[in-house]
Amino acid sequence: MERSLILFKPDAVQRRLCGRLLSRIEDKGLSLVGLKLMRITPELSRQHYAEHVSKPFYPHLEKFITAGPVVALVVEGPGAVAVMRTLMGPTNGRDAAPGTIRGDFGHSRQMNLIHGSDSVESAAREIAIYFQESELVSYDLTLATWLAAPDET
Ligand code: RTP
Ligand code: MG
Repeated sequence: MERSLILFKPDAVQRRLCGRLLSRIEDKGLSLVGLKLMRITPELSRQHYAEHVSKPFYPHLEKFITAGPVVALVVEGPGAVAVMRTLMGPTNGRDAAPGTIRGDFGHSRQMNLIHGSDSVESAAREIAIYFQESELVSYDLTLATWLAAPDET
């Protein structure tokens, strides 16, 4: 069982796409274990995007990600990290195939609507940045036996 840190970025909130993006995650069969609306500060942005801070595009990224509220989520399920990256599509909406979130809702590299952790290690780091342990709620899914076989989890 894996967890991934997801953000509905400021463009998704402003475009009122949060409900539709959440539906796609739920439809795919991942469980929600954390959810909040929040504003990312420049300091939080530098922490989250530590690997990008020294890159030329970072100032634009920080300006964008701090420009309005985001929805932060933790989702859980077998292979949740890779499942979410596939659901999102590649970074640039222009390259993203129809059927993916970035492919269906945009054509921008920067305003690409959603963030998802890129590895299990990144997920653990990012979840700890955005959520206190007490804000994450684990629960048994009554549907679980009908979503995947026991040896898949
Ligand atoms: P994210 O971290 O936001 O989920 O996106 P990602 O993994 O698909 O892409 P990543 O390489 O981690 O880049 C983070 C965000 O920085 C912006 N970016 N701009 N101008 C550029 O060359 C450039 N490259 C990346 C994108 O908004 C990307 O989502
Ligand atoms: Mg990334």
